[in-house]
Amino acid sequence: MVLSSVVASQAAIHARYGGVVPEVAARHHLEAILPVVDTALREAATGWNDLHLVAVTRGPGLPAALLVGLAGAKVIAFARGLPLVGVNHLMGHIYAAVLSDREPDRGIGWPAADELPRPSVALVVSGSHTDLCLLPDEGGVQVLGTTLDDAAGEAFDKVARLLHLGYPGGPELDRMAQRGNPLAVPFPRTTRSLPGPRGERGVGLVAGEFAFSFSGLKTSVAVYLEQHHQADTADVAASFQQVVVDTLVTRTLAAAERSGVRHVIVTGGVSANSSLRSAMDRACREQGYCLHVPPLRYCTDNAAMIAAAGWAHYQRSGADGWDLDVAPGLTLEMDG
Ligand code: KG4
Ligand code: ZN
Repeated sequence: MVLSSVVASQAAIHARYGGVVPEVAARHHLEAILPVVDTALREAATGWNDLHLVAVTRGPGLPAALLVGLAGAKVIAFARGLPLVGVNHLMGHIYAAVLSDREPDRGIGWPAADELPRPSVALVVSGSHTDLCLLPDEGGVQVLGTTLDDAAGEAFDKVARLLHLGYPGGPELDRMAQRGNPLAVPFPRTTRSLPGPRGERGVGLVAGEFAFSFSGLKTSVAVYLEQHHQADTADVAASFQQVVVDTLVTRTLAAAERSGVRHVIVTGGVSANSSLRSAMDRACREQGYCLHVPPLRYCTDNAAMIAAAGWAHYQRSGADGWDLDVAPGLTLEMDG
């Protein structure tokens, strides 16, 4: 159960540059970290003595920003004599799908070690990742497919920029698309199987079958806008979004069917997208899958999901040492 979740958004700062400047981001992390921890404790009506564990993101991400978090977490854990665990940010996103603001029937306390529905197929769609994976019964993560170029969120952000919408582009484009016709512009969709990253194979599944590619779609939008100066922004947004959503839904459900699971998890910043949420919901209902998506506030980056993944990690493998280091290039498979 989440007692408080405080997010220090840097969106307004990044908007000035049209994206994230690593140095600027790290500086603002440094300024924000202590006030955010203070606010989180106050909102949760807890004190330092009530804490059991310090969980911190160790990767993937920008090294400078990760280092600020890790240093802060080490200081708190050391000063309070608490165990410390490093969390894979992407695993955090997956745990967001089982977060709740209400306590289930078992009374106050922490959840069991791993409340993820297994076996399941999980789609992690964020600003830098599009990972389709299998969470097998026995634990761990097996990546079935990933993006060969742009991540889904990145495609939303880039197309939003082409359409002169604000930053971050995903939510703006989502809003604009609600006023448009998704069938107005027939942007191309990838229906064939894409080459796997390294021809890898999952459990009887060819990884490439579940790979994604969004940069061609983004180029199609750019070309269309160059050729149609009077194009209706809402129609272009809705048509682009429709292709992304169709692709994500189709490939995720194909992976679920091929791996014989009954549970589907959709998470990460793009899982806040209204069209993706309703299309996934509809498709899962029609095909008999149980869908798990985070409440809206836990789709985009937050600390509650890191706490949930950290607690599971701690139950499974215990605490990390003081030599815990950042892992900017961490993948889901390297640390499930
Ligand atoms: O998970 P997240 O907060 O950060 C990363 O780990 O990357 O995801 C941020 C991404 C951004 O690209 C943002 O534009 C996208 O999620 N996003 C959305 C929506 N809300 C956030 N994309 C489409 N529709 C939305 N409603
Ligand atoms: Zn994220």
